[in-house]
Amino acid sequence: MRSTSFEAMWKDLAALGRDPRTGGYRRYAWTPALRACESWFTDEAGRRGLTLEADGNGNAVAWWRPGPLRLEGGVITGSHLDSVPDGGAYDGPLGVVSALAAVDVLCERGVRPSRPLGIAVFIEEEGARFGLSCLGSRLMTGALAADQANLLRDADGTQLPEAVAAMGLEPRFGPSLDLLCDPVAFVELHIEQGRALADLDAPVGLATGIWPHGRWRFTFTGEANHAGTTRMADRRDPMLTYAMTALAANKRARLAETGTGEGSGARATFGRVEVAPNGVNAIAGTVTAWLDARAADETALQSLVDDIMRQAHDRAARDGTTLAVVAESVTPAVAFDERLRARLVRRLGDLPMLPTQAGHDAGILATAGVPAAMLFVRNPTGVSHSPTEYADPADCLAGVHALADALEELLT
Ligand code: HGY
Ligand code: MN
Ligand code: MN
Repeated sequence: MRSTSFEAMWKDLAALGRDPRTGGYRRYAWTPALRACESWFTDEAGRRGLTLEADGNGNAVAWWRPGPLRLEGGVITGSHLDSVPDGGAYDGPLGVVSALAAVDVLCERGVRPSRPLGIAVFIEEEGARFGLSCLGSRLMTGALAADQANLLRDADGTQLPEAVAAMGLEPRFGPSLDLLCDPVAFVELHIEQGRALADLDAPVGLATGIWPHGRWRFTFTGEANHAGTTRMADRRDPMLTYAMTALAANKRARLAETGTGEGSGARATFGRVEVAPNGVNAIAGTVTAWLDARAADETALQSLVDDIMRQAHDRAARDGTTLAVVAESVTPAVAFDERLRARLVRRLGDLPMLPTQAGHDAGILATAGVPAAMLFVRNPTGVSHSPTEYADPADCLAGVHALADALEELLT
């Protein structure tokens, strides 16, 4: 493949939805920034003569159906275009651009597929706006019911259907797996969000599975008061309870990671906090903080979250504050399809195989019974969900060719 195909697309897409101050992306679902990316995808699909179809959830599929092919039993690839706040350029878009470039490679090779190929773009994979990860693929598979989706609100209080309508679209939420036409496989290419391939000096790897993970909303409530006139002994400060909880969560996950605690590895992060009234000279009345917790297996995850919640409640009792915890988004462990992976290994060779702690639409489809696999492209620093996320152009092209090989294996 002429590298211009990938590079030209990458350059065009990279300019969309980027915040000039931070260099990060703010491609939130049902906003003009993401709609610009979706228009870019429509244009690139049209340029290749792909047939674009969409469901009422915000997901789209561009079909490559050269010749008289039946619709069912196709192969799906693709990923997502939405980002976390100030996310990097690669998380999601690398899988979409690589899928389009892989079609170019298959055309250059003169491949005549016996099945249709669909390039899918799932919406709100990050859950950055409405708080639920993989919102589009969960709606597609029925893992999330339409009436639950209708109740979701963003940080401004905008309800999901309003946000969709504000983009001139009609919210028609509900199961839409038929959009994929009963696929025989889904293969998602994604930048690795870690350093395993860098440490192995390998440009491309295969995923074995996804750790169970989730998001819990902690609401700490105390008594708003004057920062200067309120004696320390008289305070009921939720910021204190939150701070001690964040420390406890970090320690509990570190203990699990070094193996001296329970479980065989865990992650715990408070990355988003909202304080009310958020005044410099006011003791907070309420602190709302979101815990992102992940562990190598379901038991370890439950134990991690239970321990953090227990310590938070104990601390609240000492601080005279109260605590309410709501699970906002929980994703079970995923083991990707071994037969599909073995077939890809026969074609691609013995690529490194690694689990991931990051959630993906491939995990939601796998849980819904679609045979799924993931290809990872080396991330030299391992950094992701940051403007500094990066993959070498040579590794990106290696990923395109690996994806093209995988698709050729499945399509012919
Ligand atoms: O946060 C994640 O697990 C993924 O990047 N959506
Ligand atoms: Mn991500
Ligand atoms: Mn992603």
